[in-house]
Amino acid sequence: MHEPPRISIANLPTPLVPLDRLSARLNGAAILLKRDDLTGLETSGNKVRKLEYVVAEAIAAGCDTLVTEGTPQSNHCRATAAACARSGLRCVLLLRPEPHGAPQGNHLLDVLFGAEIRSYPRPQFDEQRETIVAGVLEELRAAGRRPRWTPMGASDPLGCWGYIRGIAELAVQIHARGIQACDLLVAVSSGGTYAGLLLGKLLHRLTHVALWGVPVSDDVAHHQRLAAGLCRATIAQYALPIEFHESDLAFVDGYVGPGYARPYPAALAAIRELASSEAIVLDPVYTGKAFCALLDGARGGRFGRERPVIFIHTGGIFSDFAWPEQLASERR
Ligand SMILES: Cc1ncc(COP(=O)(O)O)c(C=O)c1O
Repeated sequence: MHEPPRISIANLPTPLVPLDRLSARLNGAAILLKRDDLTGLETSGNKVRKLEYVVAEAIAAGCDTLVTEGTPQSNHCRATAAACARSGLRCVLLLRPEPHGAPQGNHLLDVLFGAEIRSYPRPQFDEQRETIVAGVLEELRAAGRRPRWTPMGASDPLGCWGYIRGIAELAVQIHARGIQACDLLVAVSSGGTYAGLLLGKLLHRLTHVALWGVPVSDDVAHHQRLAAGLCRATIAQYALPIEFHESDLAFVDGYVGPGYARPYPAALAAIRELASSEAIVLDPVYTGKAFCALLDGARGGRFGRERPVIFIHTGGIFSDFAWPEQLASERR
């Protein structure tokens, strides 16, 4: 097994904290939060763990520019722009759909971090994605630059290392708290966080941790295919000494709502619930939806009764500022 090199840009380890005030509201369900929203301020969230490996590989390969894609409110794009600024790399972001109005939330931070932004109407980008990406890389090379492409969410075998390492960090904290067994919940979209956690769980033999992915963008069948493919590719690429079976995958279904980046009232209520009980802020696209699964499970007795449940707060706070009406409208 060969762990690829990484640079250190995240504040690690992130804290594992009990949510006592929220637990009291939920009849004493034992709930803890792994605060990966605190991996850094500007570079906050789950993507930073992945980018530690991506940036290290880019620098080792002599690249001077990272190129990636996402929506204007993409946490991955913002974290990539921040990681580049901090590491002396340039960053090119391919955004779709085209942002409207003054930049806000993550998009505003992209601009402040000095990212070069190219934006595209969504149908054009979706239809011509490969041609557009190849064209941008070619254009940069022709201008004498050495670009490196990073896929959406940095969810490739290299990016998976962020959470292969992340779950080992969490396992030490679980042990230090004397927790014998627990459930572990995380939001799933491009899949690298969940796949990394699962690979790390298998690698470090964490049989006492029951890992659940909560899809927030697509159906479970899609995420099963995605995660299985990523796990197999990572095992092959890095010769991980583990066996992966599809039966290792476990998801909590029912929290996508009307679609990706389309928050629904229960997700907004979950954000308000945690903010008003613990002063910790989730986001409307990923963590708010996934936290609904935890709240429903805690209320219904599935989570936090027989054993504690841990939620990985994967970040995303900046996109709250792009949804002010929705978040404020149902205030109690
Ligand atoms: C805040 C936040 N949480 C969770 C996720 C999901 O992680 P992944 O894309 O690795 O599945 C993302 C990124 O997509 C994110 O930005």
